[in-house]
Amino acid sequence: MNNKIQILKDKIEEAHLGGGQARIDSQHKKGKLTARERIHFLMDEGSFEEIGMLVTHRSTDFGMEREKYLGDGVITGYGTVNGRLTYVFSQDFTVFGGSLSETHAEKICKIMDMAMKNGAPIIGLNDSGGARIQEGVVSLGGYADIFYRNVQASGVVPQFSAIMGPCAGGAVYSPAITDFILMVENTSYMFVTGPNVVKTVTHEEVSSEELGGASTHATKSGVTHFACANEIDAINHVKKLLSYVPQNCEETPPAIAYDLGNEERAGLNELLPSNANQPYDIREVIAQVADDDSFMEVHAAYAENIVVGFARLAGLSIGVVANQPAYLAGVLDNNASVKAARFVRFCDCFNIPLLVFEDVPGFLPGTDQEWNGIINNGAKLLYAFSEATVPRITVITRKAYGGAYDVMNSKHIGADMNYAWPSAEIAVMGAKGAAEIIFKREITAAENPEEKWLEKEKLYSDIFANPYRAAERGFVDEVIEPSKTREKLIKAFKMLENKVVNTPRKKHGNIPL
Ligand code: COA
Repeated sequence: MNNKIQILKDKIEEAHLGGGQARIDSQHKKGKLTARERIHFLMDEGSFEEIGMLVTHRSTDFGMEREKYLGDGVITGYGTVNGRLTYVFSQDFTVFGGSLSETHAEKICKIMDMAMKNGAPIIGLNDSGGARIQEGVVSLGGYADIFYRNVQASGVVPQFSAIMGPCAGGAVYSPAITDFILMVENTSYMFVTGPNVVKTVTHEEVSSEELGGASTHATKSGVTHFACANEIDAINHVKKLLSYVPQNCEETPPAIAYDLGNEERAGLNELLPSNANQPYDIREVIAQVADDDSFMEVHAAYAENIVVGFARLAGLSIGVVANQPAYLAGVLDNNASVKAARFVRFCDCFNIPLLVFEDVPGFLPGTDQEWNGIINNGAKLLYAFSEATVPRITVITRKAYGGAYDVMNSKHIGADMNYAWPSAEIAVMGAKGAAEIIFKREITAAENPEEKWLEKEKLYSDIFANPYRAAERGFVDEVIEPSKTREKLIKAFKMLENKVVNTPRKKHGNIPL
């Protein structure tokens, strides 16, 4: 028996070495952790249980039968993160560059199936040269098996992808379907076709980093939600994200015990500039309303005219969507609409209540916006809010103009509570523009058109640049002092905690993609 146990121990040792010490050293030299080290930092100490450690590939072409590594380039299993069951796969670049073979894919599919059955999140730690070239179509089939499961699991269990190295070609589509992508600065990149192919086809000279590095995807494409300074930072982001989300779509997100105290935030009364055209940072409002240091911004460097992220309110996990007056005056454009729509849908999938701060002058005009589909993209946000059945509350801090007023979680599209600060201006458009249109004839005929315009602007402003017309109609439930916002929201979300909405029977809706 001792001999047999020794055989097992040897195999475990062999598996732990992956592609061998030299390749582990080379991984470290690149500033990267190994697949096992990443799992070690992600999972609670001693909680990780590996599944499929002894799996090897079945390929026989190109002499592959002579080169086998236990585990076949991916470490899969389950464990706990902050005490909660989590499934993980971690690609091992030291084995055939972490490339995906038939068996490598089977291992990932196995834990995805388990995660679905047992209702727990799936974390993918990606570091792979793509499809195992020696296996041809078999490996492509393996990718598709994963993609299919990503789609089946979408909205059932949270799926996060941390990109810790290369992720190219078809490999990008699994992370793209998952809920959140995290990339590591300088050591990870994602693209469908690499710099060489780009050069051949479009004659553009571009580096891997510039084409698909973390900063590029965090700012230009929005493909990644987080650009992390290093791998540990990325892993910590994964852990933090997990802390806001439930295990699956049947559960509510974890709440932290909170004793109510004085929830008044006097600073909010002084936060808005006296001139309605002056910017302010909506993150300051969020910071004062949410529990201390609880706001985790998502997509922070992309479409900055809208701010989205998770926060806690009296311990309750919430999703925040907020126009950002400090960037493009908080206008809605293509990227902001899509960014917010996807975030709203994530929160709705996983029973995370939504809080909206609204200060929006409208949609951004221009050919760039129109030709790139602001009609469809704006509709995505409208659709996402309208179909969301989680508790939804809006606070109008200042401008709520035009169609954007409707889109930004108005009562009309199903918001449960709609508050406005006394500084709110709820109208079809700003007073200056409105006066120019409806009093055009009077202004042009006037002796002093400029003076007339100002007079009419004031008239329109007196009537509409306030929250009271909307409150008279019940479109705003209550006009509140800013300092009272936090306590009002705590009470209202508590009131809504058992909200049930019966949606019409259908296969699925047809969001304007
Ligand atoms: N299939 C099989 N083996 C692969 C592989 C793949 N897709 N990608 C990398 N490898 C192997 C390499 O042969 C090498 O093996 P070795 O350790 O025995 O020498 C090892 O992984 C490391 O690759 P290497 O090229 O030395 O690493 P790198 O850091 O310099 O470059 C890549 C990484 C991903 C840029 C490069 O390996 C690459 O371009 N791979 C192919 C990508 C691709 O076209 N994939 C298929 C389409 S999805």
